[in-house]
Amino acid sequence: MSVETLKPTGSDPLNFFWFIPTSGDGPYLGTDDFYRAPDHAYLREIATAVDRLGFGGVLIPTGANCEDSWITATALATATERLKFLVAIRPGTATPAFYARLASAVDRVSNGRLLINIVVGGAPKELAGDGIFLPHDARYDHAEEFFEVFETIAKGGTATLDGKYIKAEGAKLNFPFVQKPRPPLYFGGSSDAAIEFSAGRTDKYLTWGEPPAQVAEKIATVRAAAAAKGREVTFGIRLHFIVRETDEEAFAAADKLISRLSDETIAAAQEKFRNESDSVGQHRMAALHGGRRDNLYVAPNLWAGVGLVRGGAGTALVGSPETIAARLREYQALGIDTVIGSGYPHLEEAYKVAELLFPVLGLGRRSGEVISGDFGTGAGLGARPRRIAGLAAAV
Ligand SMILES: Cc1cc2nc3c(=O)[nH]c(=O)nc-3n(C[C@H](O)[C@H](O)[C@H](O)COP(=O)(O)O)c2cc1C
Repeated sequence: MSVETLKPTGSDPLNFFWFIPTSGDGPYLGTDDFYRAPDHAYLREIATAVDRLGFGGVLIPTGANCEDSWITATALATATERLKFLVAIRPGTATPAFYARLASAVDRVSNGRLLINIVVGGAPKELAGDGIFLPHDARYDHAEEFFEVFETIAKGGTATLDGKYIKAEGAKLNFPFVQKPRPPLYFGGSSDAAIEFSAGRTDKYLTWGEPPAQVAEKIATVRAAAAAKGREVTFGIRLHFIVRETDEEAFAAADKLISRLSDETIAAAQEKFRNESDSVGQHRMAALHGGRRDNLYVAPNLWAGVGLVRGGAGTALVGSPETIAARLREYQALGIDTVIGSGYPHLEEAYKVAELLFPVLGLGRRSGEVISGDFGTGAGLGARPRRIAGLAAAV
């Protein structure tokens, strides 16, 4: 069976990642109906599927409501071949030397497939459970000291720091990373302190799926802050996807996803985000819909329904493959090179994205020669990629 990577449609292909739902999954947001637990067998099903379908990597979230991200990444690395693992470091939860050992072990187990996502956390009550009591901006000052040590030892040096937050003496990493000089550092955070930190320390800045005009502004701000430090940062976006063969079917699927969601559940979730989160990024997401379900399209095909109950990434691109590809090309034209997608449930929606959207984007893998049978005529290769005439010119 031959495995062939499809050629891009003309512009640079996007890096397209998927999401591992370590806090649970299901087809109806905000309800327990058909709930799927995030047990290892299910998460492995998703990871092996997206590895085979040609996704470039997966984001594994971190937090008290998630199965542990480092253990999950390690387990899934042994079940997959090509997939990269974007795993979060929350600097307050352990020392830089400990995190460096953890990360280099995962880099070795996965043979160089680790990517690091730096997230300081945005829910003080949750952070207190981990013994982190720093106010918002101090968490970034802490992260700055953390990465001073982490960078030095990741690259083979010895670190000693008597900082305000971090103390280390003769820290060293004896089992080096496979990737040199170290795995790429991704980052998520929207506050001024976050952008300053990202500009100075990280390789790729990630934004949740805000409308293109807001993303353009953010990119310009991060680029300018990085340039002021003599650095360059690349950009990625985190979005849900509801792709169907036609726009109408996709809009109906979006409606269905929140069809069992009660107004009380929405109100309770929004109140929790207001009261328990000090994350600027979270507040920007919530402001898009204001907790109202009657005006959820906040930009063409950008639907804020997920954010009615889900913290963090709250918007989905909704439409046919051609429509969504055109919307993604708009983000790409702003400077986005990486998309981290998801959809409910994550297994089935990964197939929808790979089968419907990837061919239009010039991504994905063919599953091999078509064998004569119920789903193949044996006359040649099966489903050919659909192309949008003039797509590259529209970028
Ligand atoms: C793509 C992306 C992924 C994120 N993943 C996590 C995560 O796994 N755990 C977490 O606590 N915060 C995550 N965050 C949120 C923030 O990084 C961080 O915790 C905090 O909310 C940032 O606050 P700020 O926007 O005020 O700087 C993520 C953000 C983005 C953009």
